[in-house]
Amino acid sequence: MTTVGANLLSNDGDNATALLILGASGNLTQQKLGPALYSLHHKGRLPHHVHIVGVARNEMTDEQFRNQLREGCGQPPAAEWDEFAQKLTYVTADVTDPDALSGAGSHIGHLPTQGDGPLNCLLYLALAPGLYEPAITALSAAGLTDERDGWRRVVVEKPFGSDLNTARQLNAHIHGVFREDQVYRIDHYLGKETVQNLLVFRFANAIFEPVWNRNYIDQVQITVTEDILVGERGEYYDRAGVLRDMFQNHLLQLLAFVAMDPPYAFEADALRNEKVKVLNSVRRMSLHDLHRNLVIGQYDGYHIEPGVAPGSQTPTYAALRLFIDNWRWQGVPFYLRSGKGLARKSTEMVIQFHSPPHMLFPVPDHVAIPGNTLSICVQPNEGMRLEFQSKVPDAELDMKGVSLEFHYEEGFAGIDIPDAYERLLLDVMEGDAALFTRNDEIELAWSIIDPIIDSLDLPGAPAPYRYLTGMSGPPHSEELLLQDNRYWLPGCAEVGYVA
Ligand code: BG6
Repeated sequence: MTTVGANLLSNDGDNATALLILGASGNLTQQKLGPALYSLHHKGRLPHHVHIVGVARNEMTDEQFRNQLREGCGQPPAAEWDEFAQKLTYVTADVTDPDALSGAGSHIGHLPTQGDGPLNCLLYLALAPGLYEPAITALSAAGLTDERDGWRRVVVEKPFGSDLNTARQLNAHIHGVFREDQVYRIDHYLGKETVQNLLVFRFANAIFEPVWNRNYIDQVQITVTEDILVGERGEYYDRAGVLRDMFQNHLLQLLAFVAMDPPYAFEADALRNEKVKVLNSVRRMSLHDLHRNLVIGQYDGYHIEPGVAPGSQTPTYAALRLFIDNWRWQGVPFYLRSGKGLARKSTEMVIQFHSPPHMLFPVPDHVAIPGNTLSICVQPNEGMRLEFQSKVPDAELDMKGVSLEFHYEEGFAGIDIPDAYERLLLDVMEGDAALFTRNDEIELAWSIIDPIIDSLDLPGAPAPYRYLTGMSGPPHSEELLLQDNRYWLPGCAEVGYVA
């Protein structure tokens, strides 16, 4: 299905690289890319011969571009900033106009290289999604995608399409210019430390894998809550809703990391092949099942947000029950939920193990002893928590849930958790696509989410339940689990898990 091959021109050591940020006057560049690049420079991890070239339609001088980026970086020490700022230049160009982009081409043609070495070129599309295709066409027409002199790679931000058809179209357009191994589709959740650590936790320890299956695991819950509202993104968000904005990418990626088999190596294709197997195994549901397995909500006041259509039915919250039809996971429900305008920002995955098959200790009939729970706190308070039963001292034979906890803040004291973009930017420069989404993965993810979204447009489809901001979402999402005699397990914050 995929066209990925070995990266022909990766890891070429000291050669100079031009990082062209298309759409450099936008928020992403100022808020994320600039600070991540500066931080890499500060840590001495930015390859020495990297030239960062901002490209956008706005008229700006190099100096103005530097100042704009500096604002996003807080208060960097002057000397260090000046050193970094030398790497920054700016070219005014309409990114959809090949003639204008030729100007950027001649600009990078004059950048210093290492001796007679080639100049690699990383093309970062920090653009509105509607500009991806015209920009790629224009880059190609301007000769900026030719690999005559060093590698060319392209980074594509999310959203990658708005459904399966548009994602396929975009993939086809990209493949008209780039080979798959030149394409880096970003899902910034994969750059998060704790998401990567999930792989280390699962596959660099021998004690978890034997119990990581339906024989021992009762259910998996994946929660990504946000306290923020849609703010200035109303127009985009109203077209996307939480299912496109969060489920198609971040939540399904988390699901794939929790559920995948061990890849044979920590290598892009091996890893992505395993994720693809999981996505292929996610049970596709009939319309009737979809309505049974989904709860949607909209926070109170959403429809008066700027850019939101009056009477909009776009969900800002969803809870979804999924099943993975394979030997490892048959029958284990995966409960996913995400929403905006909730009590707190928190991303976590909770794995609940089965209760003991026979309780030999005396417990009152109405008390159910829960199975062990393993909570993986992705953010904030990054870490892990394993809850198990213990005897209460001195009592006749009373049991209580207690926990073993690991906090990044303590275990790795003094080491800041970097922003996801730092890792991802370095990986692209090094030609490592392991933490990027492959064409087939993206399309599979849409094939899971599309029918769910489509079902909401059908006559008789449930309207989103209203919920108050600052709370835990629509109470109906509790009912989804109650149908299975389960409940949303308390999150890290609720059980007092804070370093
Ligand atoms: C983005 C979504 O992909 O992820 C946003 O478009 C969301 O709506 C954001 O707020 C959440 O990312 P993080 O890293 O803050 O959890």
